[in-house]
Amino acid sequence: MLHVLMMDTPALALGPLLHEGKAKRLYATTDSQLYAVEFKDMATASNGRRQCQVPGKGPLNCQISSQLFTLLEQAGLPTHFRGVLDNGWMLVQPLRMIPLEVVLRNRAAGSLLRQLPILAGQQLEPPLLDLYFKDDGLGDPFLSEARLATLNIVTPQQRIQLETMARQTNSALHGALNRIDLDLVDLKLEFGWDASGQLRLADELSPDNCRLWDQRQSPDSPGRSLDKDRFRQGLGGLVDAYKEVNQRIQVLGLKPQHGGSRVKS
Ligand code: ADP
Ligand code: TMP
Repeated sequence: MLHVLMMDTPALALGPLLHEGKAKRLYATTDSQLYAVEFKDMATASNGRRQCQVPGKGPLNCQISSQLFTLLEQAGLPTHFRGVLDNGWMLVQPLRMIPLEVVLRNRAAGSLLRQLPILAGQQLEPPLLDLYFKDDGLGDPFLSEARLATLNIVTPQQRIQLETMARQTNSALHGALNRIDLDLVDLKLEFGWDASGQLRLADELSPDNCRLWDQRQSPDSPGRSLDKDRFRQGLGGLVDAYKEVNQRIQVLGLKPQHGGSRVKS
């Protein structure tokens, strides 16, 4: 089956599948400056060991990510976002990815509660920043400073640049989401280098990759989590939660660049 991406001008054709991951498929296009990303409906937990199709999740994550990338670009933070297509497809700038998962935590939740004697929901000021080596086979292990130096993934200067941009990203998103009564508890970011050597935020910004607590619900309400914890904890209602996040973000009035529509032939 031939897939064709119709841009306003010129027409853009889909190239080979470059990578199929747990949540997205990455394709080359006939424009060497653009990749096309298809957001899948698959929900995964425990490093992919638990999987489930959740109809509608992919397009929602694509829409939410497009708006949040737009927000960051408007705040002067470089991202890979180049335009949203219809139905769960996005255009991005190809990057040389840095194999690190940068996790920022504004409150204690998730794995931190299993690893430190800390109260659930405790505010972390300044936000806690941890680096993990992105490698599914190894289970994305935590990196100490010494381990990072051993792997030689980034220079000390690049690490400072990366951590600074990660903190600025967290701060911009935390402030904006707070305006729509969403508490950004934590998030995972990925970065890469473009052809000119510019560091850019990549991947996605969605409730798959962050924890969002609904400030309109009481702390002990099971409806408070509007993120993938609903799947991780078997709470159900994942798509309704993501729809709620998407609806609230509309209030911010962001207008992601549209890349045109996609047709299949
Ligand atoms: P995973 O591979 O971790 O299962 P996904 O299903 O989200 O994750 O697949 C998307 C892949 O594309 C990830 O490996 C991510 O690092 C990579 N990626 C994201 N943005 C870009 C980009 N702009 N250029 C190149 N690779 C990217
Ligand atoms: P954690 O509490 O499980 O360590 O997760 C912290 C944040 O990072 C949470 O918002 C979920 C996100 N995350 C990912 O997006 N991908 C991952 O592989 C992991 C482990 C966490």
